Amino acid sequence: MLFDFAAIPPREQYKLLVSTVTPRPIAWIVSQNKDGQLNAAPFSFFNVFSGDPPVVGIGISSHEPGRPKDTRRNIRDTREFVVNLVSEENAKAMNVTAIEFEPSVNEIEQAQLETIRSVHVKPPRIAASPVSMECTLLQIVNLGPDNALVLGRVLAMHVRDNLVLDPAKNYIDTPNLHLIGRMHGTGWYARTSDLFEMPRIPRANWTLREEKTASRG
Ligand SMILES: Cc1cc2nc3c(=O)[nH]c(=O)nc-3n(C[C@H](O)[C@H](O)[C@H](O)COP(=O)(O)O)c2cc1C
Repeated sequence: MLFDFAAIPPREQYKLLVSTVTPRPIAWIVSQNKDGQLNAAPFSFFNVFSGDPPVVGIGISSHEPGRPKDTRRNIRDTREFVVNLVSEENAKAMNVTAIEFEPSVNEIEQAQLETIRSVHVKPPRIAASPVSMECTLLQIVNLGPDNALVLGRVLAMHVRDNLVLDPAKNYIDTPNLHLIGRMHGTGWYARTSDLFEMPRIPRANWTLREEKTASRG
């Protein structure tokens, strides 16, 4: 079935995108406003976009037209944030921090989360999260009146000690991070426990195409 976005209202376009582009990793972002008020919220329009420089991107909308989410406003004003990744264990607390609280509410207190001081930036990281990235703002790309892509440069990554397999080689025990991804609708998530392995094929091992071409000729 064709869904032509020219004929579909924005809300329906959003539904089509979020119910197909799945699973999406979740950035559980801690930020602070200019007065130091702490804020935490999850964002699944999130991924990593470059290794050099190390860049993450987050799509952040508005609570209502003209009222950007606190996270976007804080990052714009203070240029610093921490992206915490979300494990199965963190799921319930993450969901509490997604409640559309008024700006004065500290979601970290509401979810009874412990934080740990960051090394390079003012916002702290979430202690219960297996991986946290300290970031500075690189650029905010305004995508529309109420949507922006926030690009951040990763200054440092914290990984829980027992999840580092070989610190010399930077090998991480990825399956044991037990990260979750966001699926369709507002309440569906995926675990990252159903894995399969498929090694890359070296160019020298790929002969099928040549054989076919040769047999045709
Ligand atoms: C799993 C999950 C993923 C979310 N992803 C996004 C997202 O990518 N972009 C967005 O604007 N809001 C997203 N939200 C909604 C925000 O977390 C929510 O609006 C939150 O209240 C924003 O908080 P803030 O105003 O403190 O920044 C998501 C919510 C959940 C539960």
